[in-house]
Amino acid sequence: MNKTVTKITLFANFVPLISLLGFSCTATLASKIGINYGRLGNNLPSPYQSVELIKSMNAGGVKLYDVDPEILKLLSGTNLLVSVMVPNHEISLLASSQTKAEEWIKNNILPFYPQTMIQFLLVGNEVLSYFSDQDRKNWFDLVPAMNNLRTSLETLNIKNVKIGTPLAMEVLQSTFPPSSAEFRSNVSYSVILPILQFLNTTRSFFFIDVYPYFPWSQNPNDISLDFALLKEQGNPKFVDPGTGLVYTNLLDQMLDALVFAMAKLGFPQIPLFISETGWPTAAGDGEQIGANIANAATYNRNLIKKFTAEPSIGTPARPGIFIPTFIFSLFDENQKTGPEVERHWGVLRADGTAAYKIDLTGNSDWP
Ligand SMILES: *[C@@H]1O[C@H](CO)[C@@H](O)[C@H](O)[C@H]1NC(C)=O
Ligand SMILES: *[C@@H]1O[C@H](CO)[C@@H](O)[C@H](O)[C@H]1NC(C)=O
Repeated sequence: MNKTVTKITLFANFVPLISLLGFSCTATLASKIGINYGRLGNNLPSPYQSVELIKSMNAGGVKLYDVDPEILKLLSGTNLLVSVMVPNHEISLLASSQTKAEEWIKNNILPFYPQTMIQFLLVGNEVLSYFSDQDRKNWFDLVPAMNNLRTSLETLNIKNVKIGTPLAMEVLQSTFPPSSAEFRSNVSYSVILPILQFLNTTRSFFFIDVYPYFPWSQNPNDISLDFALLKEQGNPKFVDPGTGLVYTNLLDQMLDALVFAMAKLGFPQIPLFISETGWPTAAGDGEQIGANIANAATYNRNLIKKFTAEPSIGTPARPGIFIPTFIFSLFDENQKTGPEVERHWGVLRADGTAAYKIDLTGNSDWP
């Protein structure tokens, strides 16, 4: 599959709609990076102000962690491609009943579609990274829920929405070297395989939340910072002994690990979608190192340059293949739990000011 085909299948769907509404044809993720709009903060700008900020940043798309009606309404008539999410706690219900799935689409998608350009319906968030009894039930309810939602979209004549589920890199039990990567053995056949079957059949994406920051900050002596920050100059290179492929950055290694793990289960072709990536601007005392504004700016600027390049750069295992990319996150979120670093991923501060300069269109060259 070449890059041109990928872009066309991804974005041509909206062309008639865009022409109909008289928008210029600029709504493509192909030339712009999207942004994750998380709202786990009690000091954030209003939804109205937030959507205005997203528009002023020239984002290609916005990814929500729910189906908030106020936000979906505010996004109508914008040229932002929108990704919405079924919360984890609703998965089992939607898996259990076609009627419930149809109600869910009727209540949460239909009122806003197509004026709001909802293009991705993500079922759950990092579902395989949670381990309680109900969480494990979710693992097995995921594909039935995706199937029911898909049937309901068809029934309601909604044609251009892709269904997927964002997973974290923890779904892999080994990632290095990339060619040796495999999914966790205990979920590989029972859980991952049906997901891959669904994604392949529906020509959807493997949505991956991928953070070079974490493996680097855990092994700063083994991995160079430049390699993690996607710096081109003077990079150390890694040659995968299994394939001879040459890696100049950690993100490519992580993405290709996923590509090889999928291929081992018989799915060499499912396209990737970076549903989250980013770099934190701060951490607690004595916590993770390297979380600072300079590194965050460098990582995100290099990321934007890489994924907006024309023609697409791709990864060593999939050269030239376009990968849609969403940065995490719009704002610092002061109510995220966990270590201090979790609350400092915003490209904007909670008051809406920029933490550092960033151009999601990739048109600016920063020093
Ligand atoms: C699967 O393996 C992971 C670690 O790889 C472990 O945390 C989890 O509890 C295991 N799950 C089951 C169902 O055995
Ligand atoms: C995946 O989808 C492609 C394209 O539709 C198809 O050719 C291939 O047989 C599918 N692979 C599997 C393992 O189902």
